Amino acid sequence: MQNLRAKGNVRSYVFISFLLLLLFFYVHYTWRSLGLQPVTSSSSSSSSSNAAALAAKYSGVYDFDFCPAKLVDYTPCEDNKRSKKLPRRRHEYRERHCLGDPLRCLIRPPPGYKFHALWPTSRTETWFDNVPSRYLTVAKADQNWVRREGEKMIFPGGGTMFHEGVTGYIEGISHYVPLGEGSDIRLALDVGCGVASWGAYLFDKGVLTMSVAPRDNHEAQVQFALERGVPALLGTLATKRQPYPSSSFDLIHCSRCLIDWTSEGGYSLIEVNRLLRPGGYWVLSGPPVNWQKYGLEAWRGDNVEFNKSMVAIEDLAARMCWEVVAKAAEADLYAIWRKPRTGKCYAERTEGTQPPVCEKTNDVDQAWYVTLTDCLPPLPLTEESRQEGEGEGGPSSSPPSIAVGKLPKWPERINFTSPRLFSRQPSANADAIHLDNFRWQRAVAHYRRLVPALIANKFRNFMDMNAGYGGFAAALFEYPVWVMNCVMTDKKTHDTMMENTLPVIFDRGLVGTYHDWCEAFSTYPRTYDLLHASGVFSAYASRECDFVDVLIEMDRILRPEGVAIIRDEVWLLRSVARIAEGMKWEVRFAKTEDGEEEATGKEAQTAEGGAAVTEETGGADGKGKIMLLVCKKRNYARPSLAVAPET
Ligand SMILES: *[C@@H]1O[C@H](CO)[C@@H](O)[C@H](O)[C@H]1NC(C)=O
Ligand SMILES: *[C@@H]1O[C@H](CO)[C@@H](O)[C@H](O)[C@H]1NC(C)=O
Repeated sequence: MQNLRAKGNVRSYVFISFLLLLLFFYVHYTWRSLGLQPVTSSSSSSSSSNAAALAAKYSGVYDFDFCPAKLVDYTPCEDNKRSKKLPRRRHEYRERHCLGDPLRCLIRPPPGYKFHALWPTSRTETWFDNVPSRYLTVAKADQNWVRREGEKMIFPGGGTMFHEGVTGYIEGISHYVPLGEGSDIRLALDVGCGVASWGAYLFDKGVLTMSVAPRDNHEAQVQFALERGVPALLGTLATKRQPYPSSSFDLIHCSRCLIDWTSEGGYSLIEVNRLLRPGGYWVLSGPPVNWQKYGLEAWRGDNVEFNKSMVAIEDLAARMCWEVVAKAAEADLYAIWRKPRTGKCYAERTEGTQPPVCEKTNDVDQAWYVTLTDCLPPLPLTEESRQEGEGEGGPSSSPPSIAVGKLPKWPERINFTSPRLFSRQPSANADAIHLDNFRWQRAVAHYRRLVPALIANKFRNFMDMNAGYGGFAAALFEYPVWVMNCVMTDKKTHDTMMENTLPVIFDRGLVGTYHDWCEAFSTYPRTYDLLHASGVFSAYASRECDFVDVLIEMDRILRPEGVAIIRDEVWLLRSVARIAEGMKWEVRFAKTEDGEEEATGKEAQTAEGGAAVTEETGGADGKGKIMLLVCKKRNYARPSLAVAPET
């Protein structure tokens, strides 16, 4: 016994040393390939003139004013007034368009804004003053979506299609799509999401849902979703690809989303096919599904039209080789299909069948301002996982092991090393995911000491502005939070600024999006509790967009009392800190978990102090030295307008 244990100790000692060694090599050799440090910053230590130029550029005194009150819900890239002038064909006018001069002011919260309810309470109730939508409470009252009770908005889990409430609706789907314990369904996309009740309740099944809806002046669906603590993005299926790689979602859902799925060759449904993982499910409910039963009474539409579109959807689904899982007539509310797991059926179609399989040169994972293409991403011919060279078909192919049913189940999936990592980075370290996990586990433990609200679990909506492999999100696994993992992408080239790790993130069962921080994010003001910006400013130092605009955008999307943790080279942080103070943020420098003062907890105690640039960060040139800037946004809301609650 004694011997055995001793042996065990030696073994674990050897193992730990081995891990430490790996960690050492990793830090030295793969730091940059991790996607945490931009390619451009490697030159920073040699180009002191750049540093001087940058310091000079941001040497002014910053003091930003509040924006006019009418901008309270401003979304710079989804401006409804401006979009009226845009083409209406294919709903292009509802898409993201970032025109005009960026905002250079601070958006003040609506009067009476209060720190949000904690999850899971926020799923059923939020503060009325935080998203004061009188329209929804009145116009949608009969649909049981949302109602006002005094200071609160209550979400009863109703909806137009949810006759038995959202939980009953989800149970209905689970007769056809395996949901819940031991299921292969982890990531869902809800198109045209209402107030995101579907996603809010799928959490109970271990499913993480991205809810998507266009900006709408009356129904701030995405704003409500985020206020409730449910992942959401502004977006619409129009002329561009959705900002996710191919084969991202296990399940895509549309309930009464009123999208024309089959016009012009069926570009919308072909995009659904791109986004679905091999073996993934598509659930359609609402018009035109089962129009024979529902059309006349509820939809007030033209039955000939409903029949036409249903026939067209079924036809296109068959041409795309989708398998019918539930026919509308038998499943009543839903029609459900499944994307094939192999390309066998593609090969067997008669020649000339539309849509064709995409050419190898078409990077189907590229999706930042990329026009929709009318083709199907290639799939492997068999389901056998090739050990060697899986995914060799180039970045566009989906290896068999990322199909629904082949991936490890959640939660083990969070540590899955996707073969898509190696198809894009053949030299990537086989332990990259675990090494990244260790690094961010340590960092998150450190952040929790620095930010009291993290210890108190008061935050819900997190964003990693430069997510790499998603290790930061993985390190938050055990907390009741979700993370929007952004992979930084250049609008001009459509390419990611570092390796495209977003497919790897989705394969781990985490959600994210491509984004270019030279532009505003597709969200409402006050939607994230914590912004993590690791290496963002060093990546953008060589881009033409201004730090001021990146920071003003961070201020816009950060909730009052929310925190931004900016992790970067000290010489850049000095400029960032000056601008952040001009934005009225509480700003302080802190060492990283690798700093000498690690784990003393001293920094946490001064968290509310707001001390800015200290002598430790002044003077020395700070090149290559990484530090943290911990920033807190204050709540500047005026007192609530005295409005008598409706009865
Ligand atoms: C629906 O449309 C198809 C094709 O246009 C037609 O053949 C069929 O009879 C229609 N069904 C009904 C019930 O109207
Ligand atoms: C994932 O791996 C990390 C180490 O990289 C480990 O700490 C964690 O427990 C693993 N999580 C799951 C759910 O297996």
